[in-house]
Amino acid sequence: MFVRTPDDAKSTKTIAFVHHKGGTGKTTACLNVAGWLVKMNKKVLVIDLDPQGNATTGLGVERATCDGTIYDVLFGQKNLEEIILETDSGIYLAPSSLDLLAAEKHMASPRQINNTVILKERLANLEKYFDYVLTDVPPSSTLLMINGIVAAENIIIPLDAGIFAYETIETLKTLLIDLNEELGVEVNVMMLILREFSTGIFDIIPTWEVRSLLKKLLIENNMPQVKIFKVPFSRYIYRAQKKGLPISHYAPFSDVGLTYRSIAKEISHFPISLRRR
Ligand SMILES: Nc1ncnc2c1ncn2[C@@H]1O[C@H](COP(=O)(O)OP(=O)(O)OP(=O)(O)O)[C@@H](O)[C@H]1O
Ligand SMILES: [Mg+2]
Repeated sequence: MFVRTPDDAKSTKTIAFVHHKGGTGKTTACLNVAGWLVKMNKKVLVIDLDPQGNATTGLGVERATCDGTIYDVLFGQKNLEEIILETDSGIYLAPSSLDLLAAEKHMASPRQINNTVILKERLANLEKYFDYVLTDVPPSSTLLMINGIVAAENIIIPLDAGIFAYETIETLKTLLIDLNEELGVEVNVMMLILREFSTGIFDIIPTWEVRSLLKKLLIENNMPQVKIFKVPFSRYIYRAQKKGLPISHYAPFSDVGLTYRSIAKEISHFPISLRRR
């Protein structure tokens, strides 16, 4: 596998796409950001931490054909380097498998000490290979989700512009504060990605109301620096995912393609966190 120079390795950015609510656009955002970063000549690893495996299939990889998965890495049978695949778009992937459904049980076992840092420990040597490590974190507040958060320096929260969006962001914030206080983990929320909500292709609910409520919430919680990006609802997303490609490689100049390009550019300007492994 490609090896970076020791100097480059100081600048690896680790980002997790997180929301405990299902279907908010975590996987879609993770893959589309990854695709644009590859187009910017970056080496990008996507870690599929979700038993559903949407990031794996979304990159055109059949789960049944994988020799090893992130489950084998988490529970000691393989090294991360052994399971990483290069996908058609040039994004590297640590695939998921249904075995991950059992991960929660293993992590919660009394024999498993330090059960929130398992992923973080497994990522320790990756800096020599990748510019970016993006983790697609599963929904619901599980140990798998906490491992995804703890292993990342930066957090991006995708959320839909439905009526519950601002309620769930409040809950998520509480969880992040708990992590800060209870585990001593500094969690950097860097960006919210607000997806337009559609009840049909001609019926898109305007996002301005949710957006202004989110802005208010961020200011009230001393997080005014967190950027909010709006992503249009688009049928190209469905088509790209069906082809197993990120939007950067399927319809780069569509509305939604250009929006994800701006998001990836913003991410490329994220400062390197002081919290190093
Ligand atoms: N901008 C968009 N336009 C149209 N459809 C979209 C867009 N973003 C996401 N979707 C679709 O919305 C659905 C949910 O998105 P996605 O799977 O990325 O959410 P998720 O948060 O990863 O879900 P889960 O919590 O189950 O992991 C998918 O079918 C995806 O194709
Ligand atoms: Mg997902």
